[in-house]
Amino acid sequence: MRKTIPLLLAALFGMLPGRALAQDEAVAAGAEIYAADCAVCHGERLRNPGTSFDLREFRADERARFEQAVLDGKGQMPPWRGVLSDEQRDQIWAYIRAYAYE
Ligand code: HEC
Repeated sequence: MRKTIPLLLAALFGMLPGRALAQDEAVAAGAEIYAADCAVCHGERLRNPGTSFDLREFRADERARFEQAVLDGKGQMPPWRGVLSDEQRDQIWAYIRAYAYE
């Protein structure tokens, strides 16, 4: 029993950085896709030049609104359906949320 507890703790704390790492990877992947496909209109590093929507305004519970605009397009923005995979949209969302105002 004495050996079990430290082992359990090691396993638990060993897992936490792993999860944080996966999240970091999603954010980094999202940043790359954003730079290639979105920055031209939404601004370098999410800094909206004033010509489109500031994506940092998205709140955590607005994923559905994000999905609809990205898949179907909105105003001057073309639709991305069939262009970006589910995983790529997840990654862009992770990137946006990492730098969102709230
Ligand atoms: C050709 C320029 C252009 C590109 C490229 C572009 N957008 Fe947009 N986007 C816009 C404009 C302009 C709007 C505002 C549309 C409106 O409200 O009329 C917009 C709106 C949006 C919205 C909706 C915001 C809301 O009001 O709910 C989302 C989400 C979005 N863009 C995400 C993205 C993502 C993610 C990418 C990259 C995959 C991207 N956009 C690429 C121009 C662009």
